[in-house]
Amino acid sequence: MTQRFPNLFSPLTIGGVTIKNRIMSSGHDTVMAERGLIGDQLLAYQEARARGGVGLIVTQASGVHPTARYTPTELTIDSDEAIPGYRRLADMAHANGTAIFGQLFHGGREIVMTEDGTLAVAWSASSVPAERYHVFPRAMPEPLILEIIASFGAAARRLVDAGLDGCEILAGWGYLPAQFLSSKTNLRDDAWGGDATRRQRFIREVLAACRAAVPEGFVVGVRISIGEAAPDGVTEEEALAAIAAYDADNLFDYVSVVKGTSGTLSGSGHIVPPSPVVSGYIAPLAARVKKITAKPVFLAGRINQPQDAENILARGEADMCIMTRALITDPEMPAKAAEGRLDDIRACVGCNQACIGHFHAGYPISCIQFPETGRERLFPRIGAAGHQRHAAAATSKRVLVIGGGPAGLKAAAIAAERGHRVTLVEADRRLGGQVRLAQLVPGREEIGGVIGNLEREARQAGVEIVMGVQADAAYVRAAGAEVVIVATGATPYRPPLELMGEPTILQAWDVLRTPGMVPAGGVVVADFRSDWTGLGLATMLAGRGHRVTLAVNGTMAGQLCQQYVRDMMTATARRARVTILTTMRVFGADASAVFLQDALTDEAVVIEDATLVLAYGHQPADALLAELEFDAADGGYQVLAAGDVLSPRTIEEAVLDGLRAAYTI
Ligand SMILES: Cc1cc2nc3c(=O)[nH]c(=O)nc-3n(C[C@H](O)[C@H](O)[C@H](O)COP(=O)(O)O)c2cc1C
Ligand code: SF4
Repeated sequence: MTQRFPNLFSPLTIGGVTIKNRIMSSGHDTVMAERGLIGDQLLAYQEARARGGVGLIVTQASGVHPTARYTPTELTIDSDEAIPGYRRLADMAHANGTAIFGQLFHGGREIVMTEDGTLAVAWSASSVPAERYHVFPRAMPEPLILEIIASFGAAARRLVDAGLDGCEILAGWGYLPAQFLSSKTNLRDDAWGGDATRRQRFIREVLAACRAAVPEGFVVGVRISIGEAAPDGVTEEEALAAIAAYDADNLFDYVSVVKGTSGTLSGSGHIVPPSPVVSGYIAPLAARVKKITAKPVFLAGRINQPQDAENILARGEADMCIMTRALITDPEMPAKAAEGRLDDIRACVGCNQACIGHFHAGYPISCIQFPETGRERLFPRIGAAGHQRHAAAATSKRVLVIGGGPAGLKAAAIAAERGHRVTLVEADRRLGGQVRLAQLVPGREEIGGVIGNLEREARQAGVEIVMGVQADAAYVRAAGAEVVIVATGATPYRPPLELMGEPTILQAWDVLRTPGMVPAGGVVVADFRSDWTGLGLATMLAGRGHRVTLAVNGTMAGQLCQQYVRDMMTATARRARVTILTTMRVFGADASAVFLQDALTDEAVVIEDATLVLAYGHQPADALLAELEFDAADGGYQVLAAGDVLSPRTIEEAVLDGLRAAYTI
C-alpha cells in the first residue's frame, strides 16, 4: 500500500545517511531526561516511535554548555557523561531501521526556569531584554563566544562517539544563534555584529566547528526560523540571506524550516501551532528556501496526516515532513500509513494540552488521547508495528461500561483489547459526552476527533456499543457483568446566586447547542475555570452581534489553557471586541443587569443590560455510582469509576482514568 504514498515512503539520502521514509519526529523536549542524561524512560519513549516506523528522529534540544540551561530538566551534551545514554539511543534507533540525529542547543537569553526558582544570569549577543520571560541578559564577551562555539563542536563530536548519524543546530526561534543573527538583538559593533555578514558569523562558526569535529558523511543540519514574527526577531530576508551565505560555503547538509520565536507571546505560538492553524501552513516559506538551496528542506507545522505530508512532498515544497505531534498521538502512524490503514490512525487534534502544555508546566509529556505516551513502561504495548496492543489479562471477564464519553470509551477499548468481553451503554443517541459540545466552540472544532478516534479503537477491540439506554441498578444486575465501570460524566454546576425577579440565566452547554437562545443585547459570560469554554463562548456570542463581557474568576482569560492556545484564543476574543474582566466571581442578576464581585476587593461590579451565561464548571453525575457501590456486594459485581464522575476535570484525565480502570481488571 506504500504506492498510495510514493513520495512519503521513498528514501532520502543526506551525507552518508539514508533515511527510509520522509516521516520525521523533530526535536521535542520530553521532560524525561534524568539529571540531564538519557535514561530508561526517554529511551522507551523514543523506542515506541522508532518501532512505529518513523524514518528519522532528531533528539530534543540538548544543552551544549553550562550557560545553556533553559529549564532544570533540559537534556545536556556538555560532557562525556552524556555519551552512554546517547549510545543506547542510537543503538535502539538503528535496531529499528531509524536514523537518528542529536539537536544541539543554546537558548541565550531564553531561560524558562531554573532548578531552584532563582533567576539565572543569562547571556546574549547584546543586552536586549526578552519580552516573554522578561530576562535581561548580559552581552557575551568574546572569550565566552569562542568557548560556546567550541562547545557546539565538542558536542557534535560526542554524538559521533555515541554512534548517531548527524547533528542539528537549533538556530531558530530566537535562541542564541538567532539572537546573534537579528539586527534588533545584536547591537554589537565588533567581529560578531555591526553588519549582516558579522551577525551571520556566530552561526557560521558554529556550523564550521561542527563540520570540523565530525567525519565525512556525518550530517550537519540547521533549524532556522524563516521570519520570527516578532518586533526584535530575525526577518525572513535576514534568514534567507544567511542560508544562502552558509550554503555557498557548504556548511550544512539540510535546512529545517520553522517560523516564530520563543521571545514573544504571539511569536512563540508558531513553535507548536495549535488548532485551528492549518496543516503545513508555513510550506510557502519552505518553498522559498528551496529556491535558494539545493540541499534537502525539512518542514514542520501541524502536518498530522500522511495525506497532507504526501501532498507537500508531491508539490515539491519540502523533502522531509516533520510530524512530531502526530507521532506523540500515534507512534504507529507510519506503519499504519504504509499499510494504507488511514482510518486507524489516531490523528492529533492540536489541543497542545499534554504535549507542549506538560513541557511548559515542567511535567513529562504525554497525549490527551493516548496516555500511554510518556508512560511506555507503565502501560507497555506488544505486537508488530501498526498492530500493537496491551497484553491480555489473566482471566477474561464480562465488563459493563456505563457512559460513552472519553473515559468510558477508553476504558472499554483497553478492557476489550486485554481480552475482556465488554459492553458499553450510553444514554444518549450519540457518543462523546461533553466533547461533542466542546467541538462547537469556535477554533475547537478538531477536538471532536478524540471521540471518533476512541470509538474506532473501542469497536476494533470488539466492544459492543449500545446507545439510547439509561442504565440503572436494575439494568446493571440484569446485565450480569462481573465488573462495572461507571463513566457517567458531569452536569453543569450552578453557583448560589442572588436573584431579583426572574432574570434569564443560561448555561454554557445550552448556549453552545443553541446560540440563538440568548436574548439580543449584552451578555456576561461568567467563567469560573478560566479555560477555553468562556473564551470560546464569548467570541462566538460577539460574532453573533452581542456586546460581550467575559468575567473570568482567574487572573487571566484562558488561564488553564496551554499558553499558545490561551494567547491565540485571547487575541481572537480581543479582535471580536470582547471585554475581559479578571478575578471576578458571579454574585447575582436581575431582569436587566448582572452583578459580579471582584474576588480581590469584594467590591460590586455591575454590568447593565446583560444576560448572564454561566460557564461555571461541572459537578459529578455520580448518583448511579453511589447506588452501584451500595449494591455491588449483593449484586456480585465489582464497581470502578473513571472520568468526571469522580471529579470534573478534562479529557486528558478522563482518558487516563479509563486506561487505569481497564488495567485493574
Ligand atoms: C513538547 C514539545 C517540545 C518541543 N521541544 C522542542 C525542542 O526541544 N527543539 C525543537 O527544535 N523543537 C521543539 N518542539 C517543536 C517541534 O520540534 C515541532 O517543530 C512542533 O511540534 C511542530 O511540529 P508538529 O506540528 O508536527 O508537532 C517541541 C514541540 C513539543 C510538542
Ligand atoms: S495532547 Fe493534543 S496536541 Fe498534543 S499530541 Fe495529543 S492531541 Fe496532539
